[in-house]
Amino acid sequence: MKTILVINGPNLNMLGRRPKEHYGSKTLDEINKMIADYDKSINFSFFQSNHEGAIIDRIQANDYDALIINPGAYTHTSVAIHDALEIVAVPKVEVHLSDVFNREDFRKIDFVKDVCDITITNLKEQGYIEAVKYLQKLI
Ligand code: DQA
Repeated sequence: MKTILVINGPNLNMLGRRPKEHYGSKTLDEINKMIADYDKSINFSFFQSNHEGAIIDRIQANDYDALIINPGAYTHTSVAIHDALEIVAVPKVEVHLSDVFNREDFRKIDFVKDVCDITITNLKEQGYIEAVKYLQKLI
């Protein structure tokens, strides 16, 4: 069975209580269940952390066949997550729930884009399913 690691960064544990116009109304647990139910032939490893180093440690574990990452606000700040992703030689998809590149200017900077195969934005929780669809063909 193939494993897809699904990483969510800071404040994504608060989904359901964050602005719904950007992030939708589902909680992270509901989104993770939706992903797991979408393809039961894949083992999903779900990981959320508010800490940059913990996210890097999880990426470095190298115990998965593909990766989906929503780095939250670290998208716009973290050279360290960029560098961790650069090392990993599996298919990688960056997901954002919101229309991240058409919001505040500080969200237009993206340190993760270049080290992921594709970036999916503005589809709310459906973005994670689109990421799985992309990866199903590659693993
Ligand atoms: C986000 C967009 C980021 O700018 C923000 O800091 C988040 C969530 C998204 O999913 O749209 O926490 O990554």
